[in-house]
Amino acid sequence: MSTFTVITRAGQVVPVEGRNGVSVMEHIRDAGLDELLALCGGCCSCATCHVYVDDGMNGRLPALSIDEDELLDSSDHRREQSRLSCQIPFKPEFEGMIVTLAPED
Ligand code: FES
Repeated sequence: MSTFTVITRAGQVVPVEGRNGVSVMEHIRDAGLDELLALCGGCCSCATCHVYVDDGMNGRLPALSIDEDELLDSSDHRREQSRLSCQIPFKPEFEGMIVTLAPED
């Protein structure tokens, strides 16, 4: 069983059981963390599913698409670790990943 960790804006640490192929955004919502708005439902058009993924995942995540890159640019809180969580389908090898919810724009 693969698990990863979500850290909320308030600093709460929430372990989440990963399901292969399901987006990280859906995992976060299914864990009851409604502060991640994910307004577009995962079609890469809102940027309200913005998270920071820990550096240990460098090179292991799917490549950033042009659309994702442009949406992240619209955030005042973009960092090197920024990703849109709806664009990351979970894989078992993501075991141990730490995802921090970015501040709301
Ligand atoms: S849920 Fe809208 S871009 Fe991810």
